[in-house]
Amino acid sequence: MKRIAVVTSGGDVPGLNAAIRAVTRSALAYGVQVIGVHRGYEGLIAGEFTEMTSRDVGGILRKGGTILGTSRSERFMTAEGRRMAKERLEQAGIEGLVVIGGNGTLAGAYQLYKLGVPLVGVPKTIDNDQYGTDTAIGVDTALNTIAEAVGRVKDTASSHRRAFLIEVMGRRCGYLALASGIICGAEMVLIPERPASPDDVARRIIEASHIGKAHCIIIVAEGWPPGTRALKEHLLTNHVDEGFDVREVVLGHVQRGGTPTAFDRLLATRMGVRAVESLLDGSGIGHMVGLHGGQLSLVPLEVATSQQKPLSAEMLRIAEMLCR
Ligand code: F6P
Repeated sequence: MKRIAVVTSGGDVPGLNAAIRAVTRSALAYGVQVIGVHRGYEGLIAGEFTEMTSRDVGGILRKGGTILGTSRSERFMTAEGRRMAKERLEQAGIEGLVVIGGNGTLAGAYQLYKLGVPLVGVPKTIDNDQYGTDTAIGVDTALNTIAEAVGRVKDTASSHRRAFLIEVMGRRCGYLALASGIICGAEMVLIPERPASPDDVARRIIEASHIGKAHCIIIVAEGWPPGTRALKEHLLTNHVDEGFDVREVVLGHVQRGGTPTAFDRLLATRMGVRAVESLLDGSGIGHMVGLHGGQLSLVPLEVATSQQKPLSAEMLRIAEMLCR
């Protein structure tokens, strides 16, 4: 291969720029030209391509976001959209593609690969819901951001003897809530994978108050039904006199920005280089770069996109014991 492209698609995460830099500079080191695709899959369909030089990726290791831009593309979900994307790549003489994305993006990449486009996937998502890898680019930074924010909320919670419902992202997956509950010493974690009723939460708040805690921190995954707002309303309507005063904090997109941690920079760099090397030698075509026990591996996209990643039984057990 003499000309490859790199695209970031789906929700952004800290560490994308480190991955773009690694892809660009490693490809250039092998004498391969690199094309940056702008605006994710939308830009792939529209042919928004520019050549990347080593200087174009200078000074971006520590920057959040993605210098290439991204999109959630409805059009790429259609066969027609993918056909147009393939045509654009062929017209531009692009022989291989590195796709940096989460599960929706990688599912799209698998379809594009089946159309005959040689490509390698790199997993990124703060949700840590990508099957076939222990973790993905962005998870560690998001967790650190959550830990910092929850620590601040805990300070004010203790001063006022309040309960706080802190909602974290994760879509339908409870990983971020589970992990942040453990690392922040939360009193309770609410995740879609484990049913709990608003009355269970009320009991936990009362219990925390009875054993003398000055705060009660409840981490709520955004995918937990019936949701943070409904839970707060239930507590304020039915249990207001029994325990703490309740407040709600939705961390939102704060979790998706910021400078990537050392872990994410290293992971993004290792995965980016491995993607290029395995694209050039052919071993990674139709695969996603995964991380297993600290080692990189190549997982067929067919497998990586075939199922939901289960939550760690060990972490569930730890949270069960310690988050109270
Ligand atoms: O998948 C990453 C994620 O941040 C989820 O945690 C969240 O549900 C979703 O993306 C938010 O998407 P958007 O940025 O399109 O609002």
